[in-house]
Amino acid sequence: MKLAHSLALLAGSGLTDASAISHFNKRWDYDVCLNDCSLAGVPIPDQDTFQLPLESFWSEQCPPVVIGPYNAPQAISRVCLTYSGNALHFTFAPFSGYTFISTLVVWKLKGNLLADSSTWAPPPPTNPIDCSPGDGGVYICSLPFSSILGVSPSTSTLDLLKGMCPNGDREGLDFYLQFTGLAAPDSGGPAVPFVQQYPCTSRAADRSCTAWNNSIQWIEVAYRCTNCNVSPCQSSTTTSTTTSTTTSTTAPPTLKTCSFGTAFGYQNPVAGNPKSITLNTQSGQGCNRWGWYETPTVAELRGGISGPLYVGAGGNDITKAIDVGIWVATANAQGRVTVTYLLNPPYALAEVHVNLVCLPLSKCAPGQYTYNAGAIPNLPTWSNPTPLVYPTCTGGSTAALIVHAAVNILTVTTTCPAPKAV
Ligand SMILES: *[C@@H]1O[C@H](CO)[C@@H](O)[C@H](O)[C@H]1NC(C)=O
Repeated sequence: MKLAHSLALLAGSGLTDASAISHFNKRWDYDVCLNDCSLAGVPIPDQDTFQLPLESFWSEQCPPVVIGPYNAPQAISRVCLTYSGNALHFTFAPFSGYTFISTLVVWKLKGNLLADSSTWAPPPPTNPIDCSPGDGGVYICSLPFSSILGVSPSTSTLDLLKGMCPNGDREGLDFYLQFTGLAAPDSGGPAVPFVQQYPCTSRAADRSCTAWNNSIQWIEVAYRCTNCNVSPCQSSTTTSTTTSTTTSTTAPPTLKTCSFGTAFGYQNPVAGNPKSITLNTQSGQGCNRWGWYETPTVAELRGGISGPLYVGAGGNDITKAIDVGIWVATANAQGRVTVTYLLNPPYALAEVHVNLVCLPLSKCAPGQYTYNAGAIPNLPTWSNPTPLVYPTCTGGSTAALIVHAAVNILTVTTTCPAPKAV
């Protein structure tokens, strides 16, 4: 997603009130909801709830794609699903060591998860969506709610949300999806195809996939809805709000860039075992602060790992943190690592810092990490252009990964509030 597109989404979604910032809470909140008090309490699609019905409703926001054989891939990456504006977006994170040439999403709506199965459309997915390059090597494709629902693009946001959340504050719709494309190795040579990984049928204790159903070429993805948690409109201003993003002809508001705070990548626990360790367990320079590191093996990185990006988790309290986006880390066959950041609007990247070193950590100050991009001009996505070497650690040490970003917020305000827990 280009910045101009993010800004258009922001402007179109009616962000006309500086106080919108105060409505941001811990949970990721869909931008359309946050920016429109008239949607308070309305069920909205929740991007924290994507599940794979063919895999016993496994929770997965970023399903895998592979180069090479499905059971011994040369490279694995991920396609992350997010909601913003009146659309479902697919962001292809780059394969480590490859550059995308083209990406394709093919989709079909299966139907309402809770409706009678006789109403469900049969597979396979048949509708292609074109994708375009985003910043930092990603490719992005957008599927408007109006296309999903087969209604006019001028349908009101409220009616689109009713269609996307036909059961209210619970299960939503189910899609057939297939991701494919072409990627060129950075080392030269011909472009290679990549395909959707088959649905996983068996998982090891560490939850990595050990068997796949290779008789079907697509996956199913479903989501749940949650009620829009924005402050209701004051009665005197109710009539001045708008839920339409398509008919407005007023000039977009002037957006100001405010520093929002420091983000650290977090990896959710797997089977009850924590995957993120707090930085303050390390005695290195500057480590007595909030934030986390992860300790993925190179095999885990080859499978692609991902998690939320949290801002404002002072005291490492994720219940107080703001979920501003997703990170994905992948390794190629040589164990070289690419980290991709994907921010939810209205957040944007100012700086990205990735540390990939052996424990113990000698320093935690982001400016001294393995990879530093210091002047990113408010972009929604970023990846390190040159893959990072996975370190060889000796003496029982393991490798640590720190995913850090300085995050801005684009908002309508005259004075920026103080950044969160920096
Ligand atoms: C693979 O998926 C198909 C279609 O859903 C199903 O009929 C079949 O039983 C599955 N096979 C395995 C091994 O799970």
